[in-house]
Amino acid sequence: MKPRVLKGIVETRTALAGAAGLGLVPTMGALHDGHGRLIEAARRESAVVVTSIFVNPTQFNQASDYEQYPRDLAADVEFCAARGVDFVFAPEAAEMYPDPPLTTVEVAQIGDGLCGRYRPGHFRGVATVVAKLFHIIQPERAYFGEKDAQQLALIRRMTADLNMPVEIVPVPTVRDASGLAISSRNRRLNPRERAAAPVLYQALSAAAARVAAGETDPDKVKAVALEILGCEPLIRVEYLELVDPERMQAVERISGPVRAAAAMWLGETRLIDNVLCSPPK
Ligand code: PAJ
Repeated sequence: MKPRVLKGIVETRTALAGAAGLGLVPTMGALHDGHGRLIEAARRESAVVVTSIFVNPTQFNQASDYEQYPRDLAADVEFCAARGVDFVFAPEAAEMYPDPPLTTVEVAQIGDGLCGRYRPGHFRGVATVVAKLFHIIQPERAYFGEKDAQQLALIRRMTADLNMPVEIVPVPTVRDASGLAISSRNRRLNPRERAAAPVLYQALSAAAARVAAGETDPDKVKAVALEILGCEPLIRVEYLELVDPERMQAVERISGPVRAAAAMWLGETRLIDNVLCSPPK
């Protein structure tokens, strides 16, 4: 069965009115197996599954990045149909933002470092659009990937701080056979860049191994990962940090689980990834 595609907010509220056990998977489309894993989890746990497909202009820093973002609604609806999605919410930008919003959601601290430092305004755009989606669709549960760990931590905190009655469900990162986290941006890599890309996960895994072996100094752990990334001349590291998993702040000493998170550029393409690192018991 094909999902019903909803474009208007009023139409969506009417179609979903009274639906119990609603699971929402927010996406920007260009759906791949990473999104697929979120949809499958939602399908297992929810009576009604809604996937939202909306390339949200307010979370892009560069107009060209927004314009170039891949859009193929027909293919995405097929992808959702194959996974038993009931409704696809795919509004136009003018439906979501009839006027530039004067009301936005800003989560302090969590959004400041890592990607937030290099993409000013990005997380305000993310938090605001997710709050809007929650209000429009009113899901019981919403599914987010650990691939975007900072986004996940931020949405969790927003939901708790603003008493939104939505359970946030984390889903582990889906990787290809080389270890590379699946992302719509991987398509932009040329063959040489594509061959270099798995080094990011290798470097973060080496950091996790160091922490598992008992290293408590974050600088020493970072040095191990940076050395691996440094061997690949095509890679330009934007950041690499060890952060506490809730606040996403850099730690001074490793005394519990931390996330090793990094962003790097391969030519014109920016890739992010992270790995949970647990010290020995
Ligand atoms: P998008 O990049 O389309 O991702 C949608 C969801 O899929 C996010 O929760 C993301 O973490 C998850 N995801 C992407 N690749 C994944 C992978 N390889 N493994 C596991 N999960 C993966 O993230 C966004 O859209 C937007 O910021 C959004 C939350 C929709 C707000 O606009």
